[in-house]
Parts: sequence; structure tokens; C-alpha cells
Amino acid sequence: MLLLGLFFLFCNIKHTVLAEFDVSGFSNCLDGEPNYRYQVFAEENVFFQCNLPFHEPLQIYNKSFFNENKTQWFLQKPDRSIEEIDISKNFKISNIGRALWFSPVEMRHSGTYLCRTENMCMQIRIHVQPKENCTKYGPSSHYFTTDIKGSISCPSLNCQQGRNISNLRWYKTANFEDVQSPNRFSLAIINDIVHFNVIYTEDAGTYICDYLLYIDGKEWIVRATTEVDVGVQDTQSPPEILGPSNGTEIKAELGKPLNLTCRILFRFERYFNPLITWTLLYPNSKEERFGRGDLCTTHFEGNDCFFTITLNKVTMNDFKATFYCHAQNSVGNASTMVKLSRKERDFVFLVYVLCATVLLLLLLLAGSGMVYLNWIEIVLFYRNYLSNDETIGDDKEFDAFISYATHNSEFSEETRENYCKSYDEEQFATQMLPNVLENNYNYKLCILERDILPGGAYVEDIAKIIKRSRRAIFILSQRYITGPSLFELQAAITCSVEKEDPLKLILIKFSSFKEPESIPHVVKKALKTLPMVSWKGDVDGKFAQNTQFWNRVRYYMPVKKSKNNGKI
Ligand SMILES: *[C@@H]1O[C@H](CO)[C@@H](O)[C@H](O)[C@H]1NC(C)=O
Ligand SMILES: *[C@@H]1O[C@H](CO)[C@@H](O)[C@H](O)[C@H]1NC(C)=O
Ligand SMILES: *[C@@H]1O[C@H](CO)[C@@H](O)[C@H](O)[C@H]1NC(C)=O
Repeated sequence: MLLLGLFFLFCNIKHTVLAEFDVSGFSNCLDGEPNYRYQVFAEENVFFQCNLPFHEPLQIYNKSFFNENKTQWFLQKPDRSIEEIDISKNFKISNIGRALWFSPVEMRHSGTYLCRTENMCMQIRIHVQPKENCTKYGPSSHYFTTDIKGSISCPSLNCQQGRNISNLRWYKTANFEDVQSPNRFSLAIINDIVHFNVIYTEDAGTYICDYLLYIDGKEWIVRATTEVDVGVQDTQSPPEILGPSNGTEIKAELGKPLNLTCRILFRFERYFNPLITWTLLYPNSKEERFGRGDLCTTHFEGNDCFFTITLNKVTMNDFKATFYCHAQNSVGNASTMVKLSRKERDFVFLVYVLCATVLLLLLLLAGSGMVYLNWIEIVLFYRNYLSNDETIGDDKEFDAFISYATHNSEFSEETRENYCKSYDEEQFATQMLPNVLENNYNYKLCILERDILPGGAYVEDIAKIIKRSRRAIFILSQRYITGPSLFELQAAITCSVEKEDPLKLILIKFSSFKEPESIPHVVKKALKTLPMVSWKGDVDGKFAQNTQFWNRVRYYMPVKKSKNNGKI
């Protein structure tokens, strides 16, 4: 109904349509009455469009650059000459879309304006009233917070009391919403007042109200604008200290610089004026350092502020001090307290390194000790699995020649007393040795009595027999050292120093003995230098329990694959 009325009202307003964009056509606008008369109040932001008023808002406030280039504005001087308005020289005037904006408009802007587009021209009369002529001029800007109610009224309307005004109409520049006939519940116009039932951020923008006033029979459009700003509601809470938390101990190093940073969240406040303080409270003095809002970055929750102070050199006094960070907004305040404590990291680190080193050394020691103790076992183990059989292809008949004191050897006085032992020693050589080495480990032994000549052999023969063996085992005892068998040892020593294929000797100390003065020098020396395996075992067949002894013997024996591979 309203729109229809407006249409009829304005279709009889004169406007000249230019056929061509030329001066002659332009002169048509100069003649006669202006197409429109506008009345505005000084110091307000207003605009006038080179278009029909009460047009579709989309078209009136179209800010397209495309339109700007096609719209020219002129001012008619008192002598009726016209002059194009130089926008670049007039910072209060701007050309947006098809409209000429004054921000703000001043008394001196009153006058007759001409505008032309690609297909028409218009004469517009503008009359600027002093603000004093309207003492009840309403607010030209509003600030609303979201989610509340709000309303705006046409600011100049208060000044028209008693006058006959008509056809009040609202427009909005931003997002081209049709305020006059809104299609949502939250917006309504009642008695020319715009009511927001709920305010949304999208409601922000420039609202324009136009109405008609007849003065001396002439129709004037009274125009006023009002700005609507929409923001988040001011916070109801004091600032929140995000760090450090109250009572924190900050590690510091003596003599080093230290930064203390306080991080605070100030929730939204329209007039944001935060105060941040670091108070350094020493036993005998106090120092305050102030920070302000420029330390903050704004984000959706509000303002995130960091205030850092620097202690150039941490002193012992600083460790006795208490540091307070205090933050304040218009609602209230918050504070946090921190203290410094000596940094012990370096010392702790050193202790760690030391412990680790000691541990490593101990492990190494233990490892080498294990290797040392079990060397023989390790070697045997290795031989068992990895070594080549060294007995193959060396033209030897026996793995070991066994030399021991036979009981039919002549007895000396001392050995006679040890008769029992002397019997054992022969038993050991002729029974136990072959039992273990031959049966278990596949060695071939040479026992004179058994393998060569029962009853004895010549000296020269024995040397030959020894040479046919890879090793020579000597069962040493007092009787052996003093008896005739010693020559076998002497012969073997001779073989052992030969350059080619030297014989290796294995000395088994079967029982303790004392070397007599008379024994040959080479034998004496050999007894001192050659390794000796001591027999501590029982002769009653419990040899298996003395694995250590047998392992040592095997260690000196040639590498040979045994029948029971793997058994150490
Ligand atoms: C603004 O004007 C341009 C150029 O005439 C046109 O293309 C565009 O559609 C207009 N925008 C609106 C929202 O009407
Ligand atoms: C201000 O108002 C008075 C009284 O209505 C009027 O006479 C005068 O012309 C006005 N001033 C302007 C500049 O319009
Ligand atoms: C901080 O707020 C408390 C009450 O919340 C008030 O008593 C105190 O004076 C305030 N401190 C400062 C420094 O403003």
C-alpha cells in the first residue's frame, strides 16, 4: 500500500532523460525547477544519488565502480555558470556508486547540483540547515551489543513538530536489506521507528531516513542518516591471568638475565583500557613496572596480553624477592605471585654424566672380568663351532704323547712314602686321561705301555715317538721329577724348540713336588715358564665334576672335531 502511494507521488516529478551525452542535452537540466530538493542538517553524513529517490535501495546505493565512472557531478555557481566537482581536491566529498557523499555536510555545501549519467541528467537543490535550528536532533550514531533489543528513530524528526511531514521511509546502505518492508521477525518499523527485537552483527550499517516536507508549496525531501554499530557485550568479569600460575617458582641462574612474562586475558570491553603491573617486592625496597594495552592482540575471546619485564642480571637479592603481576580492567583485577629459585640443572646434569660414566666403566670391568674368567670356555666354544680341525694333513699319528712315572720305575726314598699317590698317578695317565680325551673328545693318545712297547723303549725310540705326536702331556709329581721318565720331558723340550713344527708341551701338576738340584737346566727353566694345569680332582672316576681342569687341558690340546660336538 505504502509503496504504491510512493510510486504515485513520485511519478509526476520531473526528470529529463538525455538522448545523448552532450552539452546541449545537459542544458535541459539547467532550465526550470530542480528535479529534487533536499534538506539536511549540518555536521551530518549524507549523500545524494543521481537517481530517482525512493527507488529500490539496491539501485540507489549500488557502490559499483562501474557506476562511478559513468556519473559526473557539477555545481551551479551564483552566476549560473557550472563547474565540475573535483572529488580529489575535496576530502569531505566522495563519489560512491551513483551517489555523492558528504562526510560531513557543511553549511557552505548548500546549492544547486547537477549530475549526469550515461542516459540522464538531474538538477538537485540542497539546503543545509544549521544544527542549532534543531536542538532536539536525535543521535546520529548508535552502539548496540548483540542479542539485546534496540531501536533507532529518524534524528531530525524531533525538529518538525507542528509541520506536516509525510512518507517517511527507511533505507540501509550495508547488505542492501529492505528495511522498510523487512522479511524477518527481528526487524520491524512501527510509527517510523526501526525496532530490533534481537540485534545481530549484520544489523550494523548506515540507516537513512527520508521524509517529505512542504515549505511554501514546494516539496522537500528531508534526509538524515544514522550509524548503527554492533559489538559484543562488555565483559562482566575481571581479567584472567593465564600464566604464570600463582605461587610458581621460576628457575633462574645467578648473574644471567631473566625475562618474566605475565600473560593475561582481558575479555571484551568496548572501551578497553587495561592496566598491567609487575611489582618487584624486595625485603627492603619495591619497584613497579607498568604495561598497557599495546601489549595485547585481539581475538574472538577478547585481548590476549603479554607483559614481559627483564632482570638484566639475577642477583642473590632477586632470590629473596616476590614478584607480583597485577592486571585490571573496568570490572576488577587479578594478580599472581612468583618467586625465583636457583637453577640446579647444570649440577644435576653433571651428576648424571658422572654416574653414567662410572656405570659404564663398571660394566666394562665386569665384562672383561667375565671374559677373563671364562676365556678358556669361550675359546673352546669358538673352536667347537668355527675352527678348522688342525689335525688334518700334518702327518702326525698321535694327538698327545703321555709321559708319566710308571710304578715299575725305581723308587726313591721320598716316593716310596707316597706309594698310594704314585699308584693313582699311573691310573690317572692310563685310565682317566684316555677315558676322557679319547672317549669323550676323540683324541688319540700315545701311551708307551699300551700303544708302543709294553715293557719299555729305547731312548732314541722315544724321541721318534714324541715327534709323531702333536702334543706331549707330562704328569708331574715328585716321583716323575726324580725318576727316569724325566728324560722324556727333556727330549720333548728339545723338540719344542725346533724351528719347524715345534712340539707343544702340556704340564699337569698331578701332585706337589720339589725340584732337586740335579735336574737339567732346560727342564728347570721349562717348569718355570710353561703353563701348568693342576690336578685337584678325585681319582675315583669323578672327573666329570672337574670340568674346569679338563677344559684347560683341552684348551692346550690341538683343535679337533670331537664326536660329541658342542659339549664343553
Ligand atoms: C550495481 O551496478 C552494476 C552496474 O550497473 C550492476 O552490474 C550490479 O548488478 C549492481 N548491483 C546491484 C546489487 O544491484
Ligand atoms: C533556522 O530556523 C529559522 C526558524 O525556523 C529559520 O528562519 C532559518 O531560516 C533557519 N536557518 C536556515 C539556515 O535554514
Ligand atoms: C582488586 O580487587 C579487590 C576486590 O576484588 C579490591 O579490594 C582491591 O583493592 C583491588 N586491587 C587493586 C589494586 O585495585
